[in-house]
Amino acid sequence: MIVTIDGPAGAGKSTVARQLADKLGFDFLDTGAMYRCVALLGSRQQIDWADQPALAAIAAALPLEFDGARVLLEGEDVSAEIRTPEVTALIHYAADNTQVREAMVALQRKLAAEDDVVTEGRDQGTVAFPHAECKIFLSASAEERAKRRVEQMRQAGKEVSVEQVLEQQNLRDQQDEAREVGGLKAADDALVVITDGMRAFEVVEHLERLVRIRM
Ligand code: C5P
Repeated sequence: MIVTIDGPAGAGKSTVARQLADKLGFDFLDTGAMYRCVALLGSRQQIDWADQPALAAIAAALPLEFDGARVLLEGEDVSAEIRTPEVTALIHYAADNTQVREAMVALQRKLAAEDDVVTEGRDQGTVAFPHAECKIFLSASAEERAKRRVEQMRQAGKEVSVEQVLEQQNLRDQQDEAREVGGLKAADDALVVITDGMRAFEVVEHLERLVRIRM
C-alpha cells in the first residue's frame, strides 16, 4: 500500500509521516532528503549551477541510502548537513531541474516497489504515485507553520523572529507552487488536512484513522 503525504514547508509533514509509518509498520520515504542530497553533492563538486545536465548526472547516480532516520551518502551520515540553510538555499536548482525530478521519481518508485510505504514530499500524490491508495495533503496557515518553526529553532538554541521565518517560508512556498513539473499541489483525490491548533500526535491519530479506512 502507498500513502502519500504532500504539503508546504513547515506543515509538520516529516514528523507526522515518520510516526504514521511507524504505527502502520510501513517504510518511510523522505523525498525532500533526496533533493537535498543532490544539492549537497552539487555544492561539494562545485558544479556550475547553470549546467543542468551536470546536476542531472549526479541525480542519476545518487549514492543514497536511508538507514532509519539517518540519510547516508556513500556511507557518510549527512542527515544534519542536508538541513543547513546553505544547502536549503541551493535545493531549487535540483527541484527545478526536470531531469533531476525524473531520476528522483524513478528512485521513489523503485523504493516503494519493495514494501508498503508512507512517502512524503510535494509531488507524491500527483506525479510519483498517481494511483496511491491513500493521498493526504497536509497544510496549516502560514502563521501557524512559521510559529512552529520558531519554536523548533528555539529548542535547538536559535532565536529567530516569526517575521524572519515567514519571509523565507513565503519564498519557498512561491518557488514550490510555481514549479511547472512536480509543483506543490493537492491531487484531485487527496484528503486535505489542515492542522492549525492540532498537536502532532493528534494529526498522526487522525491520519492513521484515514489510512485504516482504506486498508
Ligand atoms: O521537505 P523538505 O523541506 O526537506 O524539501 C526540501 C525541498 O525539496 C522543497 O522545498 C522542494 O523544493 C523540494 N522537494 C520537491 N519535491 C519533493 C520533495 C521536496 O521538489 N517531492
